[in-house]
Amino acid sequence: MTAGLNIVLTGATGGIGRAFASALVPRAGSLLLAARDDGRLQAMAAGLRRENPALQVSTVAGDLCSVPGRAAVVEAARALPGGPELLVNNAGVGDFAWFANESEADIERVIRTNLLAPVLLTRALLPLMRPGPHAAVVNVGSILGDIGNPGNVAYSTTKYALRGFSEALRRELHGSGIRVQYLAPRATRTALNSAAQDALNAELGNGSDTPDTVARALLALLDGHRAEMHLGWPERFFVRLNRLLPSVVDRALGKRAAVVRRHAATKGGNAG
Ligand SMILES: NC(=O)c1ccc[n+]([C@@H]2O[C@H](COP(=O)([O-])OP(=O)(O)OC[C@H]3O[C@@H](n4cnc5c(N)ncnc54)[C@H](OP(=O)(O)O)[C@@H]3O)[C@@H](O)[C@H]2O)c1
Repeated sequence: MTAGLNIVLTGATGGIGRAFASALVPRAGSLLLAARDDGRLQAMAAGLRRENPALQVSTVAGDLCSVPGRAAVVEAARALPGGPELLVNNAGVGDFAWFANESEADIERVIRTNLLAPVLLTRALLPLMRPGPHAAVVNVGSILGDIGNPGNVAYSTTKYALRGFSEALRRELHGSGIRVQYLAPRATRTALNSAAQDALNAELGNGSDTPDTVARALLALLDGHRAEMHLGWPERFFVRLNRLLPSVVDRALGKRAAVVRRHAATKGGNAG
């Protein structure tokens, strides 16, 4: 473990983002928190400064789907002394929906937020990043980036692509002094999941984690230097099964499609 890192964290005010921020404090010299809601960012930064007077905490409010929003994060990162050493691309949105009924606007929002924003932000920040043994870009994906799930077609699309982005960039940056890592949480108890998604998970008996569990996994990923980490059992088993025998998982998840559709049609789902 190292201390004194310059860290850029997107989605900082969300359920997982807050847990990430707290977990990263002992390693941080400067922590730049990014999200859209400035009020929530300021309140969070004030709390962190109160608890950790030696820590430099800065904030930047902006929509990562917009050019000015990303530019604001880049400008704020430029102010970090020596440049950022750790970028955690954590901002994201969910959209539990039956695909045929999901609006074009929602599909675009999910793809822009979960895929285009981290890809373009990473590209803009890489020239500022300071290489070193602890320098890394961590992309927060999902188990649904390895297992395509009915009810999460657009979301799975983005997380599969984010995993591909992570793998290709890791190979391109080989030997550069900047690692690229991918963290795949399973269902986590945050506001990202709609009531309908939560009800579906409960009916199917899907396990879920607290944000603190995901934050501990982030620290383990950073310390272990592994390329990817997937959370949860039996989720990790199904990730492997899906790679080896996708038709078996096709049948198992296909059988559940009717249950998914029923939940997507309830209030809080997005079945149109
Ligand atoms: N919760 C789960 O079940 C789960 C499971 C697997 C993976 N994940 C992944 O974990 C990450 C964090 O999710 P979470 O559960 O913590 O979600 P969350 O509680 O809803 O927080 C989302 C965060 O992203 C920010 N954000 C959303 N859209 C943005 C935009 N256009 N520009 C800038 N910031 C934006 C939000 O702040 P503002 O609204 O202020 O912008 C908030 O800080 C996501 O990438 C998600 O896909 C979550």
